[in-house]
Amino acid sequence: MKPINELIQQDGAIQDRSIYWDEDIYQKEMEHIFARCWLFLTHDSVIPETGDYQVTTMGEDNVIVARQKDGGLKAFVNSCTHRGNYVCFSEGGNARSFVCPYHGWAFGIDGELDDVPLEEQAYFNDIDKQSLGLQQVRVESYKGFIFGTFDLDAPSLVDYLGGMAWYIDSFMDVPGGMELIGPPMKSILNCNWKNPSENFIGDGYHVGWAHASALEIAGGALESMKGLNDYSPDSGLQVTVPEGHGFGVIWDAAAALHPGPPGIAYQKWLDQRSPIVREKLGKTREKFYNGHWDATIFPNCSFLYGTNTFKVWQPRGPRQIEVFTWTLVEKEMPEELQQMIHADNMLTFGTAGILESDDGENFENCTHANRGFATRQGRVYLGMARGRERTDAEMPGLVSDGWVNETSTRGMYRRWAELMQGTPWAKLSVTAKTDAYK
Ligand code: FES
Ligand SMILES: [Fe+2]
Repeated sequence: MKPINELIQQDGAIQDRSIYWDEDIYQKEMEHIFARCWLFLTHDSVIPETGDYQVTTMGEDNVIVARQKDGGLKAFVNSCTHRGNYVCFSEGGNARSFVCPYHGWAFGIDGELDDVPLEEQAYFNDIDKQSLGLQQVRVESYKGFIFGTFDLDAPSLVDYLGGMAWYIDSFMDVPGGMELIGPPMKSILNCNWKNPSENFIGDGYHVGWAHASALEIAGGALESMKGLNDYSPDSGLQVTVPEGHGFGVIWDAAAALHPGPPGIAYQKWLDQRSPIVREKLGKTREKFYNGHWDATIFPNCSFLYGTNTFKVWQPRGPRQIEVFTWTLVEKEMPEELQQMIHADNMLTFGTAGILESDDGENFENCTHANRGFATRQGRVYLGMARGRERTDAEMPGLVSDGWVNETSTRGMYRRWAELMQGTPWAKLSVTAKTDAYK
């Protein structure tokens, strides 16, 4: 493996192609990124009652997250401490305990080992059950969005989100908050996990080109973008925060991918809620509330606010991911509007969605073109609008005009490189020091 500082160069603008293909780099990502970062697990709305649980993965580690008797949350590794079998084979549900199918060890919804068959006769009561609970995962949530980390030294979730929290509050901090319609849809794509993460964090460039036909079929406000002819840098911006998260926003376009009656109903809702958002969060965030976002919370949680797809790209080796897709809605929206948005999300970004299909093909080919040894010695380039980033008195992180931009993607790769070098948390870049970071 080449040194990390040779893999990412020019402040994030150049990537060595091996990072999308090589097994040794992937294993380093599992260690330095997926075993350290806060990773999205599920949402409060999916597991509201005691005993409700979801099974998901953090990197390739299988974990269970469960609602506790006191209303709190616990998460633990789904692997029996006797001989290692899974203790839960369902994707989610409600349980009083998790009983291993191999020899019958029973774990509580808190992951503790409660019962061992033949404890007296075969173990002679000489087994320390307290030390044999399932491996615990640190869990915290932000506005109902539940994340986990394996790293006890990681900062709190809110510090990990850094400047991104200020932005996502534009829609997460509305009265009633947001919720996810789940359980998630799941599908496989044969691509590296970074291809979709980089697309969602800041690839406005592909929208009018890769999705030209889909935009024409969908119609609505974004149709004029097809062919990349109709674009002005005043129509939005991109943001990156040092923590590696980022997004692009198109102003006044939150409902743009919901043509027809759903779009009209959604726009009415936005118009009705905007004054409340302005009152609570100020004019700038009202603007963000009405914009359409493409975003990634580093490393692998992406969403489109407005469309309202919410995704996790679960790594399954260097050249495969499992895509989990939920629909993001405001809790106080009328049920009918939530269902319209959900149906539109299926149509556009569900497993067989018209935009998902365009993207999936490009992600897979961007990964697999690196199969060739000679190809893999080369590099790829993310230099769009480089050097035009600026700080802003109100908006955290670095801002760059134009949502067709690669500012937020460069930020993602700067963070990737920092983490891959094993930089301790105390030395990683943070929003509070954005000036120094620039
Ligand atoms: S492997 Fe789970 S009880 Fe033996
Ligand atoms: Fe796309």
